[in-house]
Amino acid sequence: MISPGIGAGGSFSALTISDADFNRLVKFIQGNYGIDLTQKRQLITGRLSTPLKQRGYTSFSDFVNQVIQTKDNDLITLLLDKLTTNYTFFMREKEHLDLFCKQIIPDIVRRHQKDKTLAIWSAGCSTGEEPYNITMFLFDYLGTQASQWDTRLLATDISNRAMTAAKKGVYELPDTIPADWKKKYFTPVAGGQYQVAPKVRNNVIFQPFNLMDPIKFRRKFDVIFCRNVMIYFDQPTKDALVRRFYDATVPGGYLLISK
Ligand SMILES: C[S@@+](CC[C@H](N)C(=O)[O-])C[C@H]1O[C@@H](n2cnc3c(N)ncnc32)[C@H](O)[C@@H]1O
Repeated sequence: MISPGIGAGGSFSALTISDADFNRLVKFIQGNYGIDLTQKRQLITGRLSTPLKQRGYTSFSDFVNQVIQTKDNDLITLLLDKLTTNYTFFMREKEHLDLFCKQIIPDIVRRHQKDKTLAIWSAGCSTGEEPYNITMFLFDYLGTQASQWDTRLLATDISNRAMTAAKKGVYELPDTIPADWKKKYFTPVAGGQYQVAPKVRNNVIFQPFNLMDPIKFRRKFDVIFCRNVMIYFDQPTKDALVRRFYDATVPGGYLLISK
């Protein structure tokens, strides 16, 4: 069943979703990915109608049945790419970044004077601005010593679309990026955009990871950034994740979150 909707050119019509299918889909996403969409009915129909119609679906029913029964990778990817909120930008949460530069980096660098290896995780890295931003601060702090350190950081997300953009590292730069950073850490590309320089891109290891899964990375982390991610989770999911983060952090390590 198709109901009229509003879209560019006025020709967009959203597929309707029944209460039962909406509830089943919301439960599936919350149970498997933590994301609470109970208040997001319009977002679901708005973002999924066109791609579903392009795939030949005439109702949400068949789609929801297929997703839940088959857990088909392509359908799950579509679902997560359309329903995750990937909004992010360079220099986000200045207080965190100030704390990171003034207190956290000096502390972890002091602790790792011998092995010269830092372990930092950007969990829910979206399109990459956060891990690249962290790298730039590390490089600035270490200066000429940077080449003697292993500063590679892990950056994970569940959205394939976001991670593909992250790996490319091409952005329109905001005015908050310092002029000397533009020169040091970016290369101008077409259309007034900038690409993150290879030495910064190579410092970030992007991996898909669902934050609902057990954390089994090789090393414990000195610092975990999980900012503007848990806001989409319900309280029990947040509590369980913070517990897993705690277990995955070295004693005296840091967890930076954001509301
Ligand atoms: C709003 S962005 C935050 C980006 C960045 N951390 C920041 O603060 O600007 C939230 C990211 O969390 C990711 N996310 C949501 N649920 C997730 C899950 N269960 N596992 C991994 N990533 C998830 C989304 O795909 C999205 O890219």
